[in-house]
Amino acid sequence: MLIQSVDSNEPLSSEITPRPIYSERRYFLKQLAQGVAGAGLAAWASRQAMAGVAAPGKLAPLPGATSLVAGAMVMEKITTYQDASTYNNYYEFGTDKADPARNAHTLKTKPWTIEVEGLIKKPGRWGVEDLIKWSAMEERIYRMRCVEGWSMVIPWVGYSLSELIKRIEPLGSAKYIEFITLADPKTMPFVGSSILDWPYREALRMDEAMHPLTLLTFGMYGEILPNQNGAPVRLVVPWKYGFKNAKSIAKIRFVEKEPVNSWGRAAPQEYGFYSNVNPNVDHPRWSQSTERRISEDGLLSKKRKTLMFNGYEKQVASLYAGMDLSKYF
Ligand code: MTE
Repeated sequence: MLIQSVDSNEPLSSEITPRPIYSERRYFLKQLAQGVAGAGLAAWASRQAMAGVAAPGKLAPLPGATSLVAGAMVMEKITTYQDASTYNNYYEFGTDKADPARNAHTLKTKPWTIEVEGLIKKPGRWGVEDLIKWSAMEERIYRMRCVEGWSMVIPWVGYSLSELIKRIEPLGSAKYIEFITLADPKTMPFVGSSILDWPYREALRMDEAMHPLTLLTFGMYGEILPNQNGAPVRLVVPWKYGFKNAKSIAKIRFVEKEPVNSWGRAAPQEYGFYSNVNPNVDHPRWSQSTERRISEDGLLSKKRKTLMFNGYEKQVASLYAGMDLSKYF
C-alpha cells in the first residue's frame, strides 16, 4: 500500500507498502523533495494510481480536476471499478454484498432534487444538475474502511461539502447536519423490511461537515455514480466507517441537537455517532485493528493494519481533541 498525502513529509510505513510499487513511491517522494508539487505532481500520482482501473465508460463522464485538498490524494493501488461497484452495502436493495449491483437498476435518479432545510438562512430545493455546478468538480482518491473489516481505495468525484454549507448560510444555532436518503418502496425492494428504520439517515457535527476532506460526491472513476454506489449524490467522509456515507441523499437538514443515525438507532451499543475509524476501539463483536483490502488481500494473506482515522489523523485528529474516543466511538 502506497500512501502519500500532498502536504505530508511523514515517513511511510514500509510494512504496509507492497514491493511492486515501492519504487514508484520512492520516485514520488523524490519528486516531492525536488519541490515538484502542485497539480502536475498530483495528476501524475493520480494517473499512476488509476492505471488499469478505469470505469467501463457506460455511464456519463464526470471528470474532476485532481484535488489539492490536504491529504485528499492517496497514492495506493486503486480498487478496480468492478469490485467497487459490485461489492456494496445498500440495504434498500438487499443485504448481500452483491444485491445492490443486482437490484439497484430500479432506482430512478432523474429527476432528483435535494431539499436543504432547518437552521439556515437560505433553505430551498435544488435539482442535482444545479448542485453539480455549485463548485468545481474534483477527483479525490480516498481510502475507505467499512466497519465490517474490509477496505477499498476509490477515486471519487465531487466537491467539499463545505462549499454547499457556505452557500446556504447556517445559523449559529446549527450544530449538526443530518442527511436523509431516499426511501421509495416502489423502487427499493427492501425499504419496509425490519433491518433498519427507513429512510436511512446519517449525520455529522458541523465542524466535521465543514472539514475540507468531507466530500459531497456525484461520481467515481471519472463517471457519474452507478446506482448501487449511491447515485446521484452521496456523502464520503474518509476518516469514518463506511456507513456514515449516506447514499442517494434526498434531504439535508441543519439542526441543533445530535441526530440519531440509522445504525445508532438499530444497535446503539455497536454503532456510535462518531464512528471514526479507530484501530484501538473494537466493535463489541470483533476487533477493528486490521482490515482486508478488497481485491488485493486474499483470505489466506495477512490482514493489514488499520490506521488511526483511516490514515487521515494528521488532518482530522484536532476535531476530537480532548474527547475520550472509547466513549465517543
Ligand atoms: N446509504 C444508504 N442509503 N443505505 C445503506 O444501506 N450503507 C452504508 C453506506 N451508505 C448504506 C448507505 C454502508 S454500511 C456502507 S459500508 C457504505 O454505504 C458502502 O458504500 P459503497 O457501496 O460505495 O462502498
